[in-house]
Amino acid sequence: MRLNRSLGWWLTASLAMFLASCLEQYDPSKNNAKFAAEWKQSVQPAANLTETGEIPVTGGAKVIDADERYATICANCHGAKGYGDGAGGLALNPKPRNLHDKDWQARVDDAHIVKVITYGGQSVGLSASMSAWGSILSPEEVLALVKKIRVWGKE
Ligand code: HEC
Repeated sequence: MRLNRSLGWWLTASLAMFLASCLEQYDPSKNNAKFAAEWKQSVQPAANLTETGEIPVTGGAKVIDADERYATICANCHGAKGYGDGAGGLALNPKPRNLHDKDWQARVDDAHIVKVITYGGQSVGLSASMSAWGSILSPEEVLALVKKIRVWGKE
């Protein structure tokens, strides 16, 4: 009898300890910091996704800077302000397009401009002097450039 009773106490005590240790493991406040760190690693904050909702290859936010891209790549021919008067375009025939040209702006849709920038002048029957920039510019950057060109069309 005595043995049984102490065995009973012992069992109850071990069970209580076992339950307590289980509860401790699932105590969220105890593990919050760890969970938070793991969560951060496994989930990309939405703010860092690209415009199309992809996780950026570099892991960071890709900054799309149409002004910088235009100044670096296009301004040499099309001119700093887009009037088609860049030094690199002076000797070209046909001349680089004046991107402010309202008639041209009205004639073409955005898809056409995207195509010219991405695949070059030849892709739409124009001069090959207007090269294809699709391997240098991301689709998002091309769209940002189209937006920039459209703003010029309204000036
Ligand atoms: C080496 C000079 C050169 C560079 C650099 C250049 N272009 Fe051009 N671009 C041209 C020429 C030349 C034409 C005119 C082609 C024609 O009329 O046959 C043209 C035409 C265009 C057109 C008008 C297409 C049409 O429908 O008439 C757009 C839009 C354009 N370029 C955008 C850009 C953008 C954006 C960049 C930079 C990413 C760029 N170009 C870089 C030379 C250049």
